[in-house]
Amino acid sequence: MVAVLLLLVAQRQTQTFDRDWRFHLGDVPGAEQPAFDDSKWRRLEIPHDWSIEGAFSEQNPAGVAGGALPGGVGWYRKTFTVPAADSGKVVFVEFDGVYRNSEVWINGSSLGKRPYGYSSFRYELTPHLRYRARNVIAVRVDNSQQPNSRWYSGSGIYRHVRLVTTNPVHVDQWGTYITTPVVTGESAQVTIRTSIRNERRREQPAALVTTVYDSGGKVVAVEVMKGGLALADSTEIVDSLTIPRPTLWSPERPYLYRAVSSVYCLPKTVPCDEYTTQFGVRSFVFRADSGFFLNGRHVKIRGVCLHHDLGALGAAVNTRAIERQLEIMRAMGANAIRTSHNPPAPELLDLTDRMGFIVMDEAFDMWKKEKTPYDYHLDWDAWHVRDLSDMVLRDRNHPSVFIWSIGNEVMEQWNNGDSTAAPIARELAGIVRALDPTRPITQAANNGSPQNPVFHAGALDLLGHNYHHEVWKDFPTQYPGAKFIITEAMSALNSRGVYGQPSDSVAIYYTPYEKNRGPQPPTNGRLSSYDNSRAFWGSLHEESLRLFERYPFLSGIFVWQGIDYLGEPTPYEWPARSSYFGAVDLAGFPKDPFYLYQSVWTEQPMLHLLPHWNWTRGDTIDVWAYTNAEQVELYLNGAFLGVRRKTEPVSHLMWRVAYKPGTLRAVARQNGIVTTTAVVRTTGVPARVALAADRARIRADGEDLSFVTITVRDRRGLAVPTAQPLVRLRISGGARIVGVDNGDEISHTSFQAHQVRLFNGKAVVMVRAGRKAGTATLTAEGRGLAPATVRIELR
Ligand code: GAL
Repeated sequence: MVAVLLLLVAQRQTQTFDRDWRFHLGDVPGAEQPAFDDSKWRRLEIPHDWSIEGAFSEQNPAGVAGGALPGGVGWYRKTFTVPAADSGKVVFVEFDGVYRNSEVWINGSSLGKRPYGYSSFRYELTPHLRYRARNVIAVRVDNSQQPNSRWYSGSGIYRHVRLVTTNPVHVDQWGTYITTPVVTGESAQVTIRTSIRNERRREQPAALVTTVYDSGGKVVAVEVMKGGLALADSTEIVDSLTIPRPTLWSPERPYLYRAVSSVYCLPKTVPCDEYTTQFGVRSFVFRADSGFFLNGRHVKIRGVCLHHDLGALGAAVNTRAIERQLEIMRAMGANAIRTSHNPPAPELLDLTDRMGFIVMDEAFDMWKKEKTPYDYHLDWDAWHVRDLSDMVLRDRNHPSVFIWSIGNEVMEQWNNGDSTAAPIARELAGIVRALDPTRPITQAANNGSPQNPVFHAGALDLLGHNYHHEVWKDFPTQYPGAKFIITEAMSALNSRGVYGQPSDSVAIYYTPYEKNRGPQPPTNGRLSSYDNSRAFWGSLHEESLRLFERYPFLSGIFVWQGIDYLGEPTPYEWPARSSYFGAVDLAGFPKDPFYLYQSVWTEQPMLHLLPHWNWTRGDTIDVWAYTNAEQVELYLNGAFLGVRRKTEPVSHLMWRVAYKPGTLRAVARQNGIVTTTAVVRTTGVPARVALAADRARIRADGEDLSFVTITVRDRRGLAVPTAQPLVRLRISGGARIVGVDNGDEISHTSFQAHQVRLFNGKAVVMVRAGRKAGTATLTAEGRGLAPATVRIELR
């Protein structure tokens, strides 16, 4: 009833098209034909990533860089009916992303192909539809040519799909473009460009009414425009509105407005289409000498690079999983995200709008020159204009997007005499500027040489530098008047909960392909979590962070990486299969360097002590502290071990301690006053399993997740930080276990198993809600341990 009413009022209907697909792994001749029998195929729901379901193997052609998981060809089919009432309408299918080389058919007719796995696209179905009858959509996905990526990509229809039904006269796909050319405290001038398409066989007199609502739903501005719409034409209508006393968007207060574009097909008095766009009002500027200013206030862009995978969930988009990643990054103190190195899922940008992150939206990891044999360079000529344009068209209304990046470390930057670098950079920047002149354009370059041809193309608004922290200080003299951003830095290497002694020497590692250079990493596949290991091209967390905070001309930094990702296990090869670069492990648990960022990037008094205190008598253990106070005192079993003062705002404090079991206690002081304390205790052996859900109540919408942390406790209830027991899981009630992980880079247990070995005392289980309200019960048990149960309410 509600749906029918909606239809009468505004004829646009957007329906999820995620459910009831059939899937087959492998190529099948004729599967695009409507009559093809798919009854034996697996039934599943989109978003879906078949790679994450596969087994880790050294033989998988993606290699460890691609996560050592399988690619291949997969087919998806979905049968649906269209009501007769829709016969005068136009119908589109929208894909947010398919990795990669998709081809889509409707009732046997090919609608098109899309090679790039990160682009969003849609096809019109109308001429091929059968009303009140069975229609079949078929999608072939080809991720068989490997390697085609330097990180884990996932395979399949891994982002959402929608069916959009509109009047033949309707607002086009990504059909609004909202800018705020003048913003003051008194008012904001808002320009709204609306593209209206007329697919009727005649010209159409029309009116457009644009209404702007504040976040409380109150109308703050209205504008009416009238005009004729020519046949099969997309007409752009430009409106100018004023919002009095606007609330500005900022990371601290991510305030959103909503513009509703109502199209009237005159003389009718009900709208023939209604289209909603969220936007924000903010002003910003980058300055060569002093960095980034948002709404007139200086803001350091304290960012992280994130790949698109969601750890154990693979590439399959889940809004709550993305939100959790952002919450963890927020807790670390980050206010910015770089979507390395591709256009993100739309849900990420909805979340960054809502949660208040500054986004650098990146198009490509390569241009015309390859990085891996089957990557996008093969599609460059035919597709780069379209893919880049579509990214900007799709994302340009997001207030959280502040910077466009046209590439990462492209090969064209390397050859000083490369005659293609500058023309490509200029072409790409031209495409972006034509669609959105309001945001600066950068390119992430790791050829720091002042001769880098991309820097001299005259194409970039912001010079984006990756690594080479030692030359940052020279930028203002090397590039007078240029504006800078550190598009990527650090590449420090750590495994959660691993503490090699002593901690005061630095290990510099190479990639496995340069085996004979430098020291070899430990053969157990684990790197210490003291901030003392790094890739040779990078730095320790502390080094680059210190310099970044020191230089005002650096507008921002993006740490490689916020969270570990699948693939690229530098400095290891097999059996490692995920990265060591994250400040947070693949399961979402902070490694110790997380707290270095917190000590510099957050205001709440904090103190973090490492390592754990389960050692052997006679050991000499380095104790580190991260704090935002000026000094810390340390006590072992009450005995004073000394006070350490910070001489640098970005630093750790260290004590070398003769180990005795017991209690390590630290006290942080600022101006003589205790701001906070931290305690680490020696534990006994594990006695029981413990479960803690991040949310004990989730929505019964078939998508929401509860992330449940598993630890094991001793008799006193202390979590045992070194324990590695195998824990078996069971769930009952209307929820499923959809992922397990422990953050161990060399584990080959399936992420979809119903058991998990704790890694240094921790693991996570991801519980996904069904569609019925009720209570789910998760039980965890391990040999010799009392079991644990947690209840999750589904509403
Ligand atoms: C950078 C690159 C990233 C990642 C990183 C690892 O050069 O842009 O994608 O490979 O190195 O340190």
